[in-house]
Amino acid sequence: MFYNEDCISGAKKYLADNSIDLIVTDPPYGISGDKLDKHYNRNEDNVISGYVEVAETDYPNFSLAWIKEAERVLKPGGSIYIVSGYTHLRHILNALAETSLEERNHIIWKYNFGVYTKTKYVSSHYHILYYTKPFGKVTFNTYAFYADSEKDKAGGSLNYQDREDVWIINREYKPGQIKNKNELPKSLLTKIIMYSSNPDDMVCDFFLGSFSTAKVAIGLGRNACGFEINKNAFDYQIEIMKEIKKGELIETLRKVPNNKLFQQGKPLSDKEIKDIVEEYNNYYKSGYTKKNVIELLSEKFGRGYFSISKILSQQKNQSENTLF
Ligand SMILES: C[S@@+](CC[C@H](N)C(=O)[O-])C[C@H]1O[C@@H](n2cnc3c(N)ncnc32)[C@H](O)[C@@H]1O
Repeated sequence: MFYNEDCISGAKKYLADNSIDLIVTDPPYGISGDKLDKHYNRNEDNVISGYVEVAETDYPNFSLAWIKEAERVLKPGGSIYIVSGYTHLRHILNALAETSLEERNHIIWKYNFGVYTKTKYVSSHYHILYYTKPFGKVTFNTYAFYADSEKDKAGGSLNYQDREDVWIINREYKPGQIKNKNELPKSLLTKIIMYSSNPDDMVCDFFLGSFSTAKVAIGLGRNACGFEINKNAFDYQIEIMKEIKKGELIETLRKVPNNKLFQQGKPLSDKEIKDIVEEYNNYYKSGYTKKNVIELLSEKFGRGYFSISKILSQQKNQSENTLF
């Protein structure tokens, strides 16, 4: 399922229409000359040679050609995440606008080791364009990492924070290890793959580089496929791929508490209302704040926060005896 070929002709040859659940990819940036090592102030000796760039003048047509293929092979409802710097972002956006793909988020990924500059701001973010193909059910696993009940010390929702569209994720520092230029961090790929695919789905990367997308996808129990035109990178990484065991990363994920608001949408019985009010009074008497009690009751009774608050205020209006 991995091809040492150009992704545009390769996709036409090997990938059927509507066959891919998720594409996660990081195309070459079309930055002329090989200056990235100077920008990042790093030693290039351990970087695999042969990285194929795209000429700046070809970038618009190149982007349109591979994005059209991506659109064709995605299943209806399938998702695509494209990582892009800002230099040619407009060409990727223009190409996406030529397809039926629909924008869901424009994510900013802020990383460490920004491009160092002295006379202007340090550039330390990439863009991640998250689009989906219309006419199908979109996979978005809202509770992949945090349940609604999980809060930070200030009471803020961890689920909400994890799903904000600015991601602060460090790049991996791999001194002395063989790597591809611009390797994507595992935690970034884990986040995308867990939110936007299910076990056994097919995840594709048109620009495999170090095969980081494929390694994480298979590690998380998905299937993977893709293209890399650089023979050096392909030959080196394909050997490593043979060692990756499907599902081996699953046990490294944190266990998410059961999030289900299991009673949501069901009619309230008089007994349930009575129990909620009684428990509220007991907790409140023992010194809990109103907010804490409602959160506890929401978890216990499987009802949303606002539904519990509503029950309490309706009861407050009806009864003199409850403590609100
Ligand atoms: C930004 S890197 C991808 C890095 C990768 N996401 C990783 O984590 O290692 C882009 C890769 O696309 C490859 N490439 C360039 N043009 C290509 C093409 N037409 N088809 C397939 N791969 C291509 C380059 O050789 C390079 O390895």
